[in-house]
Amino acid sequence: MSAASSARTPLLRVSGLRTWFPIRGGVLQRVLGHVRAVDDVSFEIAAGRTLALVGESGCGKTTVGRSCLRLVEPQAGSVVHEGVDLLGLGRRELRPYRRRLQIVFQDPNASLDPRLRVRDAIAEGMQAFGIGDSEAERTERVVALLRRVQLDPDQMWRYPHEFSGGQRQRICIARALAVEPRLLVCDEAVSALDVSIQAQILNLLLELQQELGLAYLFITHDLGVVRHLAHEVAVMYVGQIVERGPTARVFSDPRHPYTRALLSAIPSADPFRRATRVRLTGDVASPARPPAGCRFHTRCPEVFERCRRGAPGLVPVDEGESRCFLAERSEPPAA
Ligand SMILES: Nc1ncnc2c1ncn2[C@@H]1O[C@H](COP(=O)(O)OP(=O)(O)OP(=O)(O)O)[C@@H](O)[C@H]1O
Ligand code: SF4
Ligand SMILES: [Mg+2]
Repeated sequence: MSAASSARTPLLRVSGLRTWFPIRGGVLQRVLGHVRAVDDVSFEIAAGRTLALVGESGCGKTTVGRSCLRLVEPQAGSVVHEGVDLLGLGRRELRPYRRRLQIVFQDPNASLDPRLRVRDAIAEGMQAFGIGDSEAERTERVVALLRRVQLDPDQMWRYPHEFSGGQRQRICIARALAVEPRLLVCDEAVSALDVSIQAQILNLLLELQQELGLAYLFITHDLGVVRHLAHEVAVMYVGQIVERGPTARVFSDPRHPYTRALLSAIPSADPFRRATRVRLTGDVASPARPPAGCRFHTRCPEVFERCRRGAPGLVPVDEGESRCFLAERSEPPAA
């Protein structure tokens, strides 16, 4: 494939993804309903690019990430990587692709086995995927990976609890890199860290992206981080993407009332911006019982009659998409 065509081909193309969780109850544990955690989500990420997935707690961000890696099983849609729909593969067929898509979680304690020395935690995946011909070769690779994430390789025989939170997150990144992924899902990967440590880890992720051409699906509720890191943003509300587009455009000219509210809540030293903060009233809608019509209508400052009757689809705006009837008015004329 030529450089030009590979630049155009997305590394990951997600279409119509649906992951609902059954709600069971009663003596017979019958299915009483579903949590529509992810409800018709589509996006693409190209090599070397970062798509940030943002939205309030419970809107479905983690479930999107886990569904792409099949850590939970979606019921519909497709997740295409290297021309193959990962959702259509059996467990064995999926294995080689597992290596290409790795995840880094918020809590490094939960993802590192406290009984495994750092060397073994990093080498574990290599061994599973047959990377390196011998233990010595894998150890050599661990040394290089630790150096790459700016940790002292002399510490590789220590246990995770002997490291700080930021160092543990570096170990998790080295562990993910060990199997030569092409995409990392970073799920609130820096949220638990002090701000100065966050900045260091974010810089490391940026360097790795430039060096290795990694793609990131960067899940966060911190819009300040998004602005520095992401090429594109997708804003989720109750299981659906409500706005998507290049970061610069979404931040300067948000086309969905929910995006405007989220952005106006970013702490700002600018008194004008503080005065224009949009305060959302009303409870966050439940993904178990999404409101009829537009899912955001119970909180939308711009709601009008039509919003209670019908559900808006995603419409193209000049750069990206918005799921709002108001955006239809700014739809670019057909060519
Ligand atoms: N395994 C599961 N079984 C049942 N419900 C689940 C499961 N995982 C997630 N949910 C529900 O799906 C919805 C979306 O959850 P998810 O964790 O994806 O949200 P999130 O956007 O990542 O939230 P947060 O910002 O708090 O991490 C929530 O209502 C959650 O309770
Ligand atoms: S469709 Fe209506 S309720 Fe929904 S975001 Fe747009 S204006 Fe608000
Ligand atoms: Mg989450």
